[in-house]
Amino acid sequence: MKLSNAVAFSLVSLPGAMAWGGLGHVTTAYIASNFVANTTEAYLKQLLGSQDADYMAKVASWADSIRYTKWGRFTSTFHFIDAHDSPPEDCNVDFERDCKETGCVITALANYTKQSVDPSLPAWRRAQAAKFVIHFVGDLHQPLHNEDVARGGNGIHVLWNGREFNLHHVWDSSITEKWLGMRGRKPYRWAEKWSKDLTEKINSGIYADEKGDWLADLDFSNPEETALAWSRECNKLVCQYVFPEGPKAIAGQELSGEYYEKAAPVLEKQVARAGYRMAAWLDKIVDQYLKLEASYTGELPTEDYIEEPLDEFMEEPIGEL
Ligand SMILES: *[C@@H]1O[C@H](CO)[C@@H](O)[C@H](O)[C@H]1NC(C)=O
Ligand SMILES: *[C@@H]1O[C@H](CO)[C@@H](O)[C@H](O)[C@H]1NC(C)=O
Repeated sequence: MKLSNAVAFSLVSLPGAMAWGGLGHVTTAYIASNFVANTTEAYLKQLLGSQDADYMAKVASWADSIRYTKWGRFTSTFHFIDAHDSPPEDCNVDFERDCKETGCVITALANYTKQSVDPSLPAWRRAQAAKFVIHFVGDLHQPLHNEDVARGGNGIHVLWNGREFNLHHVWDSSITEKWLGMRGRKPYRWAEKWSKDLTEKINSGIYADEKGDWLADLDFSNPEETALAWSRECNKLVCQYVFPEGPKAIAGQELSGEYYEKAAPVLEKQVARAGYRMAAWLDKIVDQYLKLEASYTGELPTEDYIEEPLDEFMEEPIGEL
């Protein structure tokens, strides 16, 4: 893509830069914090250095904050998997075909899950790994993070209330912002509110009966297969709701009407699923770590902390920055 186009795209996506990055990620982490076991909560609060209710929510977007830094550049392909399928006729994810040499969200989730349970790693490494896990479970549930077409929709111009945006941005933020009636640029409190609503829907509302099925593919002994199953489920939504008439047909279309009506409930369910699964995954991680740590006889890890950029980011709710 020519530079001039790149600049134009980044400008049109500015207003919602928080996007899934803020609202979606923070909401999934809040939901997870409502479902984790007490031992998980206690362990993570200690590991992440916060006793606050938003101990997970406030680290949920950390991985986005470092991906464009020099230090974090190696993580840039960890947030997605580029499914080279052909929506709307055929949606599928093929690990061998679609995961880049430099890694993808499948390998990243597996990698940081393994690090999270490794008692030979110092606490700061396990904390970093937990922050990556929290983030990548979220990314896995955004349909356009499981699709190659036009760089996950970034290269497709559409209209939203008559204004030009790229399709990835619409799925990252426009749809959910409208769904919540969100005003202003402070997604943090909206995320907390939304997470309460979704927690209720999971416990006793529209998701109560199906939440058990959400964990059917969870196999902690095989993180890659688990992540791949979640990715495939999400990628199917690309055919059904993102490009129901194909990628060409959507260019230039106004999406805030009928398209939105169909997409919003689907996206909300993805956020609920991500949060619920995140809690179950973190329970497994903490359980496993505590077992391995109890029987660990190797050398104790040295706490040689290597400074990571934007560490102060953890102190501040991102919506307030
Ligand atoms: C977990 O903690 C909550 C609140 O502190 C408490 O009400 C509950 O009984 C605990 N659950 C278990 C299984 O210990
Ligand atoms: C696993 O994590 C380490 C530490 O962040 C990183 O250096 C490595 O590239 C990762 N490997 C994969 C396959 O994601």
